[in-house]
Amino acid sequence: MVDAHHLRQVLATGELTIEGRLVDASNATLLAMAALDGVEVACVYKPTAGERPLWDFPDGTLGRREVAAYEVSSALGWHLVPPTVWREAGPFGPGMVQAWVSAEDGGEMPPGGGLVDVVGRGAVPDGWLEVVEAHGAGGRPVTLVHADDADLRRMCVFDVLVNNADRKGGHVLRGRVEPDDEVRTYGVDHGVTFSEDEKLRTVLWGWAGEPLPEEDLADVERLMGELDERLESRLRELLAPREVARTRQRIGRLVRGAAYPLPGDGWPSLPWPAF
Ligand SMILES: Nc1ncnc2c1ncn2[C@@H]1O[C@H](COP(=O)(O)OP(=O)(O)O)[C@@H](O)[C@H]1O
Ligand SMILES: [Mg+2]
Repeated sequence: MVDAHHLRQVLATGELTIEGRLVDASNATLLAMAALDGVEVACVYKPTAGERPLWDFPDGTLGRREVAAYEVSSALGWHLVPPTVWREAGPFGPGMVQAWVSAEDGGEMPPGGGLVDVVGRGAVPDGWLEVVEAHGAGGRPVTLVHADDADLRRMCVFDVLVNNADRKGGHVLRGRVEPDDEVRTYGVDHGVTFSEDEKLRTVLWGWAGEPLPEEDLADVERLMGELDERLESRLRELLAPREVARTRQRIGRLVRGAAYPLPGDGWPSLPWPAF
């Protein structure tokens, strides 16, 4: 079994071989294998050179934001982001590398990891929460829903902390990062995070305004301590100083408010299409 530390080492220093390009990606997002000392792991490689420029994020910074998102998830102890590292060297130059999440049975990943879905209007499955009513393909009335699930609740909290501007259903996966690891719920595509401005845009609004579960709140409080210990200096290697300062403010605000946020106005709070 490859432990998390070893896995990160393979991703960061192993030889990268490109296997293909992910077609539903908006950037040059490549499927690759990283190999080190006989250990091979599947991964996503996003070279900075392949980043599509965005008006609201500085050029060439998206890959480092993804690594910063991993660091926050890891400091929370929540395992929501697959191991993600920064590499200076790769076939297309510097970029981020992230462990690949395979579906539990090795087959196709269900949309939204089986936890986020679009159903016929009002057909909310038992134990699921309604997010919004909308119109799907051809004007069909639909409802966006997600499971009332503990991992997804933590993902919602995580998105608030990292100020995720793009939590689509398609960025929720369920599977394992290497054959022996546990099946978990993972989030991917954290390039548009840590903005100085409030940009939370997510499909996970099912708990808006509710109090945070006590255990999750305790972890967020502990994260504030981690920031004082080593997380802040790690984030400073990856983000602008003001972005790190804002992150501290968001953590403080969440601890004080102790509740899931409500969608704001002035910034579109739902990604659409939702997948
Ligand atoms: N670590 C991963 N494991 C498995 N599938 C992934 C992983 N990262 C991305 N994907 C899949 O590839 C798609 C495109 O990747 P994404 O990170 O969203 O790229 P982009 O930044 O170009 O939108 C995702 O929607 C997801 O289906
Ligand atoms: Mg994407």
